[in-house]
Amino acid sequence: MTTIWAPSTDGMALALSRLRNGELVGFPTETVYGLGADASNERAVVRIFTMKGRPANHPVIVHLAPDADLERWARKVPPAARTLIEKFAPGPLTLILPKAASVPDIVTGGQNNVGLRFPSHPVAQRLLRDFDGGVAAPSANRFGHVSPTTAQHVADEFGDAELMILDGGPCPIGIESTIVDFTRGAAVLLRPGSITPQDLAEALGYAPLPGTRKSPRVSGSLDSHYAPKTQSRLVKPFELPAAIRSTILSGRSVGVLARIAAKPADFVGVWRQAGPEWALYARALYAELRLLDAAGVDLILVEEPPAAVDWQAINDRLHRATHSGKGEAGTAAGATRTRRG
Ligand code: TXA
Ligand code: MG
Repeated sequence: MTTIWAPSTDGMALALSRLRNGELVGFPTETVYGLGADASNERAVVRIFTMKGRPANHPVIVHLAPDADLERWARKVPPAARTLIEKFAPGPLTLILPKAASVPDIVTGGQNNVGLRFPSHPVAQRLLRDFDGGVAAPSANRFGHVSPTTAQHVADEFGDAELMILDGGPCPIGIESTIVDFTRGAAVLLRPGSITPQDLAEALGYAPLPGTRKSPRVSGSLDSHYAPKTQSRLVKPFELPAAIRSTILSGRSVGVLARIAAKPADFVGVWRQAGPEWALYARALYAELRLLDAAGVDLILVEEPPAAVDWQAINDRLHRATHSGKGEAGTAAGATRTRRG
């Protein structure tokens, strides 16, 4: 059974003792909830992969307290990486750096590089400070599924497993950290997040290079990821009314995740509104996808946000969440996901 704990003295003490015993702890960060294990304990990290059902060659991010000793984890920290740390840490940024020799292979998926992040969430910071070590943690969801932004979401993912979850309330950002790779010379943006390419360019003095989408080592870069179980489709705002009509005419029930579209007067189905502005939208996105998934509709239609640069990270997640595994996602042809268990 999963158990949800307030981050009280008792809750924190239990979380610490679990981490020290090589057990897992669900914990809040400002982006999404993490499924944490002692990063220096190989057997503990293996448990993460087992619980998530994640392939073992996918590396996990090591979370550190703000004043942690970087050199314990990274062999080399280029000046540009230090610049980003000064500007954005603690915060929703992950740096990929050459790993220190002591970092276990299971953490890095056998690679020479390690992902490091300094979360700004007060509960995460307290846990990391008191633990006085690195906490390896992916998002606390089953592999390929929607990330969790509340403690209850984590419980919903792993209900039958033995897991304690620290409850830090809803995650204020709501989408995963921006990942920047510093192991290939110039900075490479591996995963867009709420720290945008412009933010990075301003700090670095040059625009980060775009990452290769298919990089096998970034599981969040798989075409289908962050996905609800219900078949889902991204539709342009002007196509939404017709898509709703044709779904209903075909005898299927429909859920809509709208951005600015108004609910038609004769709409029958589940209508959710995620917010017109990207930060609000990001905060609501995964909770809304989960709600629509749980509503038992046959098809989820997502009103496509603008192609503007502010929306890049959200569009990235939405394209993967609605990807069918074949063809291009989100085209007028209507890429759809097939159901999975
Ligand atoms: O906001 C976040 O980053 C959240 C919270 C919990 O910190 N974590 C998160 O972890 O999203 P995860 O495992 O779901 O996604 C991290 C991504 C994965 O795609 C992983 O492959 C990539 O980061 N990654 C981790 N270490 C890496 C490394 N050494 N080299 C390249 N990619 C790495
Ligand atoms: Mg994830």
